[in-house]
Amino acid sequence: GMVAMKGSYHGKSMGALSLTFNPKYRESFQPLVEKVSFSSYGNIDELRATVDKDTAFVILEPIQGESGIHVPPDGFLQDVRKLCDENKILLIFDEIQSGLGRTGSMWASNHWETVPDIMCVAKGIAGGVPMGVTLVRPDILSVMKKGEHSSTFGGNPLSCATGTATIQALTQDGLIENAKNMGQKLRQGLEELKSKHKIIREVRGKGLMIGVELKFEVKDILMEGIKNGLLLLYSGRNILRFLPPLVISEEDITKTLKILDMLLTNEEAR
Ligand SMILES: Cc1ncc(COP(=O)(O)O)c(C=O)c1O
Repeated sequence: GMVAMKGSYHGKSMGALSLTFNPKYRESFQPLVEKVSFSSYGNIDELRATVDKDTAFVILEPIQGESGIHVPPDGFLQDVRKLCDENKILLIFDEIQSGLGRTGSMWASNHWETVPDIMCVAKGIAGGVPMGVTLVRPDILSVMKKGEHSSTFGGNPLSCATGTATIQALTQDGLIENAKNMGQKLRQGLEELKSKHKIIREVRGKGLMIGVELKFEVKDILMEGIKNGLLLLYSGRNILRFLPPLVISEEDITKTLKILDMLLTNEEAR
């Protein structure tokens, strides 16, 4: 069997959807791949009780994105790695949203110094041009024969060129450093807004992957944001998700915080 996490989001193709937790996405496409169990994110005891001798892999997001930016408790990823090693289970990290410098490190899993056996990468990899990559250890790759796994647009030259350029920008042009520094500024500003606005319940995340949980629905704030030149993303009904481009400047962060301050003030006056 396979084990994924409660709150997980791995995508909407059939295999990935089978490992995605939210029934809202799953319902229309059933039956999905069988033998998938879900364990609570961050709870190593529950995971230990969920795996068995037939578990092939455990898959998780090193920071959960779609479900509202959930950072695992320190030690969780290391404990999962140990559990997988002890039971000869493969560990898969989905770094599709959290990877490529977003959290101020190349991979979110770097924050806990944990290396998976298989890693899924996409979104930021080609700077906005469609591309997805699965990284595997050589001994795992050797189970597949050449040509067994291919697709029409796989390895297309435009995506590969933009992918190469993106990796150069990340590693040579200081974008990861920028994500770290600007992430700190944004985080600090959001914490200040939290002490000013009682409707903010929590600010959490790493680098430029930040969630702001409100005590009320965020719908009106999103709509008012559009009118005021601030495009925001949501997560569920009451969480604002900040995933700005890694090139964001301090000036844009200041502007963002100023508009958000106004939107929250208006929301509280309703
Ligand atoms: C962690 C994670 N995995 C995978 C995906 C890819 O999903 P989709 O199939 O919707 O492009 C996403 C997209 O949001 C994601 O956040």
